[in-house]
Amino acid sequence: MSTGTETAAAAAAVDGDAVLRAEEVTLRFGGLTSLDHVSLTLHRGEILAVIGPNGAGKTSLFNCLTGVYLPQEGKVELLRGDGASSLSLRGRKPHLVNRAGVSRTFQNIRLFNALTVLENVQIAAETRTTSGPVGIMLGLPRNRNVERTARQRCRELLDFVGLRGKENALASALSYGDQRRLEIARALASDPTVLLLDEPAAGTNPSEKLGLAQLIRRINSELGMSILLIEHDMRLVMSVANRITVLNFGKVIASGTPVEVQQNPAVIEAYLGSDAAQDQEAAEEFSEQLAEAEAEAEAESEAEAAAETDAAQAAAAEEGPDGDAADAADEEGSK
Ligand SMILES: Nc1ncnc2c1ncn2[C@@H]1O[C@H](COP(=O)(O)OP(=O)(O)OP(=O)(O)O)[C@@H](O)[C@H]1O
Ligand SMILES: [Mg+2]
Repeated sequence: MSTGTETAAAAAAVDGDAVLRAEEVTLRFGGLTSLDHVSLTLHRGEILAVIGPNGAGKTSLFNCLTGVYLPQEGKVELLRGDGASSLSLRGRKPHLVNRAGVSRTFQNIRLFNALTVLENVQIAAETRTTSGPVGIMLGLPRNRNVERTARQRCRELLDFVGLRGKENALASALSYGDQRRLEIARALASDPTVLLLDEPAAGTNPSEKLGLAQLIRRINSELGMSILLIEHDMRLVMSVANRITVLNFGKVIASGTPVEVQQNPAVIEAYLGSDAAQDQEAAEEFSEQLAEAEAEAEAESEAEAAAETDAAQAAAAEEGPDGDAADAADEEGSK
């Protein structure tokens, strides 16, 4: 079975240093305890999944990590690359948590439906633009350059998430799977170090799910982002996660590799049910499909790169061995 747990990168991630840590986080709403002394550590470069039944506290945990909710107890820390310093995120406003390098998507898609795909990403990227609002309003030259660069970067991001050619479509006109991709592009626009995805494949069809699994892996491997992933689809979770933490009634009931969690009796009882063996088979099949899709994508991008090289070589050959001389001769001739 070719799950992420078998890769060298995964092993490194599991042993690696911490980037985001929740310690003994407790959140109450009146008499209801939504999170009960929850601790988890996301390591640099890993994909950690958070799973559990409906109402287990998964989204509440994301809300505590991103400043939406202020937990009554516990710590939330973002750890810097040097490993020595940390930043407390508890009590920080959501936009400041985002500025610190933690970005997220939402369980219920939150897009500006009346705006285009590109505009949706541009708004999310605004936090990174250095131009002040007045400069932008007056369209001063320096700011125009900054804006052009920012727009170009947004287009590249859309390319990366697979929305090339759809930049000018209205967000509302996108398929459900593409809306999920756009949400991810928006989250990436602030250039985070940590990405939190709340059910990124909810409501999508099987082929969209496979595409999203591929995208999540590429964000992790190509952009080097550490990812915390909430997802109900066990096939996707087992195929992309390096480790899994299971919540039930606001408590962590298990933590481990996908295989460990899948075989854990407490998890089977609380969440996976008696179909765990069947789930494992389905997960293996999904992993195989994912590996095939990834191999196909790699072959495609190699073919594209080769075609580009051929085109560049053909252009150079047409220009001749001494491009400058040929240009000069052309100029001479046109006088
Ligand atoms: N703002 C709130 N006010 C009151 N109760 C809340 C609030 N937010 C969450 N809860 C409660 O906290 C508990 C955990 O909810 P949460 O949304 O975190 O679950 P979840 O694991 O994300 O579930 P799902 O898989 O259905 O998305 C639930 O009982 C929920 O009703
Ligand atoms: Mg939720």
